[in-house]
Amino acid sequence: MTQTKKIAVISGDGIGPEVVAEAEKIIKRTEDVFGYSFTTEHALFGGIAIDQKGTPLPEETLNVCKSADAVLLGAVGGPQWDNNPKELRPETGLLGIRKELGLFSNLRPAVIFDCLKDASTLKPEVLEGTDLMVVRELTGGIYFGEKFRREGANGEEAVDTCVYNTMEVERIVRQAFEIAQKRRKKLASVDKANVLETSRLWRETVNRIAPEYPDVELEHVLVDNCAMQLLRRPSSFDVIVTENMFGDILSDEAAMLTGSIGMLASASMGEGDYGLYEPVHGSAPDIAGQGLANPIATILSVALMYRLTFGYAEAADAIERAVAEVLDAGHRTADIAVDKSKALSTTQMGDLIAAAIRKQ
Ligand code: NAI
Ligand code: MG
Repeated sequence: MTQTKKIAVISGDGIGPEVVAEAEKIIKRTEDVFGYSFTTEHALFGGIAIDQKGTPLPEETLNVCKSADAVLLGAVGGPQWDNNPKELRPETGLLGIRKELGLFSNLRPAVIFDCLKDASTLKPEVLEGTDLMVVRELTGGIYFGEKFRREGANGEEAVDTCVYNTMEVERIVRQAFEIAQKRRKKLASVDKANVLETSRLWRETVNRIAPEYPDVELEHVLVDNCAMQLLRRPSSFDVIVTENMFGDILSDEAAMLTGSIGMLASASMGEGDYGLYEPVHGSAPDIAGQGLANPIATILSVALMYRLTFGYAEAADAIERAVAEVLDAGHRTADIAVDKSKALSTTQMGDLIAAAIRKQ
């Protein structure tokens, strides 16, 4: 008998509720197949919370998240809230929840499904075997440093400052080493140590703690070189760890290797096993409410949750196998279909994947 785990479920806006419903089907199915026990508690967040509670991140929602072992999030946002003042915008809620829950790292796996290789703009032989994870520092660096304007000798000047301390670097790098230990045991630390002082501190910190992870093969890669190598030899990477802004850019680049935004999961983690899991895509208002959304990114986010928060690797593998099996059999939602007239709806895709989940 396994212990009951609590998952806070935030459907959000647009296609959020549609894809989250399919992920919940998957959670239910793994309870049946593997004997796990979950309780789920739904909470309002984003645009719908603004409409119903007058704030994107109600206190209640934060409490539901804090009392849970993990959070599953759909997506938030939409044109109807775009012109609101800052405190009444869905994205303000996103920054708030990350900060309040202490989520300092963002993990984005990029995996190529063999049968979808054609969806990428890169040649299939270059992509072959690509399975990497970008670990991005999420709460430090230039996005959070002091910013100001001043008058200079040649007109107005704008200043953004980039600050990192040893603690911030060490905790994210340790997390990356630990993730690498559970994967193919390779870590690429990305910086600009030839130019930036924050990068020198980053590299020194990585080198200082690396001996504690002797089983992980470490390489230092300069960020500009990394941007090239991701296109040239993506399959040679396992885990990539980097600071906030470099990670923002490289994780989008890595995401595009796979060719479809409807397929990509992400996790935001703090200390320990707690995490917030969500698809990389947004609320897709253009297709919301029509049953067209691809639920796979959200379903794969559940697999990440099982692996990283709960240590349920067997079920995580089973979910990923089920997705691959359904795709291999030729089933597609509209976003990844060649023949759109044969495309499955969101719920049809969710049903097929749920049915394909079994013990090995
Ligand atoms: P988006 O990811 O929502 O959509 C981009 C394009 O991809 C659209 O054509 C959409 O139909 C398609 N798409 C996205 N997910 C899909 C799926 N699962 N299946 C099939 N097609 C899919 O990005 P966009 O349009 O820039 O943003 C829309 C809204 O979402 C905005 O309000 C934005 O702020 C918000 N957003 C929220 C995020 C979050 O909640 N973490 C992340 C990114 C955007
Ligand atoms: Mg982005």
